Amino acid sequence: SDLSPHVLVLFGATGDLAARKLFPGLYRLAVDDRLPQHYAVIGTGRHSPGSDEEFRQHVRDALHEFVGDIDESVAEPLLERICFVTSAEDDGSDLRKAVEDAEDRLLADAHCLLSDVRRLLYLSVPPSAVQGMVGMLEREDLDDRARLVAEKPFGTDLASARELHRVLNEAFEEHQIFRIDHFLGKEAVQNILALRFANGLFEPAWNRHTIESVQIDVPEKLTVEGRGSFYEGTGCLRDMVTTHLCQLLGFVALEDPHAFRESAIRAAKGAVFSAVRPLDPERVVFGQYDGYRDEPDVADDSDVETFVAIEVWIDNDRWRDVPFYLRTGKAMADGRRTITVRFRDPRHRWLKPEHGGQPEPNELVIELADDPRIAIDVRAKRPGPDMALVEGVFRLDLVGDLPGSDPLEAYERLLLDVMRGDRTLFISSDEVDRLWEICQPVLDRRPPVQPYPAGSWGPEAAQELALGGWRLGNHAP
Ligand code: BG6
Repeated sequence: SDLSPHVLVLFGATGDLAARKLFPGLYRLAVDDRLPQHYAVIGTGRHSPGSDEEFRQHVRDALHEFVGDIDESVAEPLLERICFVTSAEDDGSDLRKAVEDAEDRLLADAHCLLSDVRRLLYLSVPPSAVQGMVGMLEREDLDDRARLVAEKPFGTDLASARELHRVLNEAFEEHQIFRIDHFLGKEAVQNILALRFANGLFEPAWNRHTIESVQIDVPEKLTVEGRGSFYEGTGCLRDMVTTHLCQLLGFVALEDPHAFRESAIRAAKGAVFSAVRPLDPERVVFGQYDGYRDEPDVADDSDVETFVAIEVWIDNDRWRDVPFYLRTGKAMADGRRTITVRFRDPRHRWLKPEHGGQPEPNELVIELADDPRIAIDVRAKRPGPDMALVEGVFRLDLVGDLPGSDPLEAYERLLLDVMRGDRTLFISSDEVDRLWEICQPVLDRRPPVQPYPAGSWGPEAAQELALGGWRLGNHAP
């Protein structure tokens, strides 16, 4: 790998995200031989998990739980480079010393200049802790030669988001800041751009003349899984919708960006978000699964939403009159990340299914996770003596069908991009602000939270929101 030597500092290193995604991401990079040749990883936080050895054991356990079968010959050299030091907003001296010691070792091994050594600072901490941490990093001069990765939620509304940008910008230049949304690291999401702009077939049809509606549907089977206190302070709208689902909408709806470059992609997404009409609370359904209030760290009378379904309109020439439906929730009937583009019915109605009626609409479906694929439902003549229709499917498996495929997991890809200094798949502060503006009417006038049974498709009212019904949980597998 031609990456410069790196010291990675992980705030929140004993937390849920580190265990589920960050250490597995690093491990996968190691498996694929994509880490820098010289690097060190320093976990940090207020409370020490014990000795370095105990911390490594914690990481080892996380790899076993969230990656599965581990190649020890890859994991052990990674684990050897991991240590833990405590730090707090008013005390970063041990952290500073640990970073400098690690840099001394890297310098000796890599025979390079100190100016070649990069610091990757990953803030996986609650929003309330960010300001203190950033202040500490600045006081300890740890912001030098650094790239800072910030995790959502980026504030809780426009005012707090602006305050967060201000805090980050006090210590870091904007080009040092990587606001992460891991959905953009998913291979299949980047494939939306390839599908639309590398194939003469789709882009001419990608507009209101041909498309009737779009669904961005991310039901999860998971409950809040021990993240009760995070969820109580965040809720589903802020956790999933203003972030992941809106970013997917940006990729589906953007105009030709003309380049896969930070400035181009940000401008194209920014133009979509500018054209998105602020949400109408009447067209938003909030739900809460039965049993949520019994989860650890959840209030007995909590009215935090664990489910959201919304209708979104984009007021530009391409998308005027095309509703976008976004839906996501915890404890639902299925776990999927699915984008469905539903095409208008053709005008020629003389071709019918065998028993009359209307055929199912053509839908282009992009599955983003667990067996990523693109499929298009098409109508075809049923083989036989009569001119009757049946449904068929064109299907492309986005891993197995593609030659030379070498897929990266989302966090693996995005950690690599941070080390390469590439912000194309990261979020700008303007996008964050605009997405809060779009959601503000719902924050001001929260819809009532309606109960739904765990393992269901959410409250009844959400079923009726989508014109023609939702694809998932409805007529299709
Ligand atoms: C996270 C949310 O950002 O994304 C979680 O905080 C959610 O609530 C998760 O479960 C879903 O991510 P993925 O990669 O499993 O689709």
